[in-house]
Amino acid sequence: MIAAYDVPRLVVDSANFDRSFDQRPFGYEHNLSGLDLFSEPSLRALAARYDRDFMVAASAPTPATKFYSVPYGSHTPLEAFDRLDSGNQRILLKMPENHDRRYRDLLHTLFEQVVALRGGLRGERVERLASSILISSAEAITPFHFDPEISFFFQISGEKVYHLYAPSVLSEAELERFYVMGIVNIGQVELAGRDPKSEYVFRLVDGKGMHQPQNCPHWVETRANRSVSYVFSFETETTRSLGRTRAFNHYMRRCRLTPAPLGARPGLDRAKSWAMRVAIPLRKSIGRGIGALRSRR
Ligand SMILES: [Fe+2]
Repeated sequence: MIAAYDVPRLVVDSANFDRSFDQRPFGYEHNLSGLDLFSEPSLRALAARYDRDFMVAASAPTPATKFYSVPYGSHTPLEAFDRLDSGNQRILLKMPENHDRRYRDLLHTLFEQVVALRGGLRGERVERLASSILISSAEAITPFHFDPEISFFFQISGEKVYHLYAPSVLSEAELERFYVMGIVNIGQVELAGRDPKSEYVFRLVDGKGMHQPQNCPHWVETRANRSVSYVFSFETETTRSLGRTRAFNHYMRRCRLTPAPLGARPGLDRAKSWAMRVAIPLRKSIGRGIGALRSRR
């Protein structure tokens, strides 16, 4: 049991961490729930500061609903916060560390613990590190999707049931279609047909957390009360490089070529990644140029 007044930390079995990090989900405990920065007045004040870097969406009718078909954008974060008890609100506050130094300190404190558990960064460069706060009404559903980043999730209050699938339930073609876009966003995929034997279910309440490897598709439901969760995510040069290799493989399949399985030829994977380091920005600027030309016609 961790005392609430201790330094914020996660408590995890180190052998399990070594075996499972970025391979399969695992649970742990934490002591974040009692922190003042997650009290209702602190969260309401934080919500009031957001005029960008947020998403307010309704609950999805089912876990299989297409992610962006759910109504969103009808309320500000503060308006949605004040409507939580009337139901059907999901609020995502991105990068609270940009609004309040306490969230920045929390993010770096927890990330240092994860790096220590890994035995250091092992020469890897961190390309992006960011946190988010998720505040949802009771009985709200976030539909099936995957995130292209490694995440550590902390349930602060309320109950949230997290349904994750091993990344292996996604085909390489599905992942390649996402990574060719070169964006930081959710990956929208279909829930139908996934192997139920690959599903992990975590019932998260205050003090419980869960590690979500990169590309683990999932859907989430809150239960009888409103839910507050904190998550931090990161990408390294290695995880981004894998994405660029998959983007290259996407173009190979379009040319009716069969790419070597990812990881089978590491030198070739690196060469593909370097090729896409140039091609993805070029593709985006060509797309922007075509869009600008169309708008002038
Ligand atoms: Fe997600």
